[in-house]
Amino acid sequence: MPLPTILVADDDRSIRTVLSQALGRAGYQVRTTASAATLWQWIEEGEGDLVITDVVMPDENGLDLIPRIKRARPDMRVLVMSAQSTLMTAVKATQRGAFEYLPKPFDLKELLAVVERALAAPARTLAEPAAPLESEERMPLIGRSMAMQDIYRIIARLTTSDLTVMINGESGTGKELVARALHDYGRRRGGPFVAVNMAAIPRELIESELFGHERGAFTGATSRNPGRFEQAAGGTLFLDEIGDMPPEAQTRLLRVLQEGEFTTVGGRQPIRANVRIVAATHRDLRQSIRTGTFREDLFYRLNVVPIRLPPLRERVEDIPLLARHFLDRSREDGLPAKILADGAIERLQASRWPGNVRELENLMRRLAALYPQETITADLVDQELAEAASHDQEAEAPEILAKEPLADAVARHIRHFLAAGQDGMPLHDIYDRVIAEVERPLIQMTLAATRGNQIKAAAMLGLNRNTLRKKIRDLEIPVVRGVS
Ligand SMILES: Nc1ncnc2c1ncn2[C@@H]1O[C@H](COP(=O)(O)OP(=O)(O)OP(=O)(O)O)[C@@H](O)[C@H]1O
Ligand SMILES: [Mg+2]
Repeated sequence: MPLPTILVADDDRSIRTVLSQALGRAGYQVRTTASAATLWQWIEEGEGDLVITDVVMPDENGLDLIPRIKRARPDMRVLVMSAQSTLMTAVKATQRGAFEYLPKPFDLKELLAVVERALAAPARTLAEPAAPLESEERMPLIGRSMAMQDIYRIIARLTTSDLTVMINGESGTGKELVARALHDYGRRRGGPFVAVNMAAIPRELIESELFGHERGAFTGATSRNPGRFEQAAGGTLFLDEIGDMPPEAQTRLLRVLQEGEFTTVGGRQPIRANVRIVAATHRDLRQSIRTGTFREDLFYRLNVVPIRLPPLRERVEDIPLLARHFLDRSREDGLPAKILADGAIERLQASRWPGNVRELENLMRRLAALYPQETITADLVDQELAEAASHDQEAEAPEILAKEPLADAVARHIRHFLAAGQDGMPLHDIYDRVIAEVERPLIQMTLAATRGNQIKAAAMLGLNRNTLRKKIRDLEIPVVRGVS
């Protein structure tokens, strides 16, 4: 069998050299060019088995070439690489029929693995190019960090399927935005996007909220009401804060997902569920499973494609872009235009952002609205950040804590455990589980206060060092050094 030939188009000479060496070593024949026109000529002449193309080339955009390549040579595998990686590039590449999209800089090992996979894929299972997006809307997600690139790639891959997605991330990291992007670029984008916040509905109303009710099903049900499942038919149902769903509702939801149909409250006729489910939570659901507050079987139903949104402090390189984006937004809303001084950006990047992108967004809005200066300086940022921090502390001031004694909070949780038991979830090890609930934050926060110094933490806790080490291990507490 002849060696597969790989056609590489990139105007960057060093990339051509690196690729041609690496692919050559891996046993492929390689032809490289800096121009899209030459690549096209090779395609027309029937050359090559796989194309690796850059997006921005002097004569033509690589993305525009893909549909032509696919028409002329339907079996041709195309890999797209780009330094300008945005959600749009990733989605477009996938929709136009690229096999995979690789943000630059890429890992050579990964590239070789993708090449191998692409060549092994039977031609007829190569994704059908999806219908192109109607318009070039503005980008919903900002950020070019590696962490965000991974998210864009997953979203792009999911545009051709209805797989259930579970989005996990701290508050304000963009979970809802990602859920919307999955819908807006997905196969169901012509249908409705319906969001339900599971934490915001009183538990006795959840069933009727999700599945609807018939007229007269309960006092006050004066007319038939469709539930969210029915409203979202043909589209996406976004189950936000899924980790806060009460146990009875979890059981009900699981059954609907298993059976693919539901009945309204008071109704008899089963209705086929025609929704794509995207769920989100800021909670660690594996931990909730351990403590008995989330059903493991439901978790596995929902966690088909997990997406973890990184906290903002893990992608500080996106902060300048995000900050300017929010200032631009404020200007569009009629607030004066602002410039960020370099020092200000440094301060923004050094902050911890417990409220993540939402907190940054609010800060930029305040800066745009409250200060007359055109340039936002480091001092202004410091001032606003200090102001925000003092509000946070107020919320946890001793007077407020005194209103909820620890014992009350513990009692509330225990009631929750016991209620879960009544719903058929087996109860066991309650003693250990409750103690673990208290031990974990106690140890975690003491470690944070000592910046990860276990000797100091053990002293503060009044524990033997070895005991502390064992507990850290047993509770699987991540040990981070030097983080405040
Ligand atoms: N990558 C991003 N680019 C631009 N804006 C973003 C990005 N991520 C988040 N935002 C903005 O930050 C705010 C919070 O995002 P979102 O509501 O999606 O977060 P969330 O994770 O659902 O938060 P919560 O857990 O509190 O519900 C929104 O105004 C959103 O537009
Ligand atoms: Mg949200």
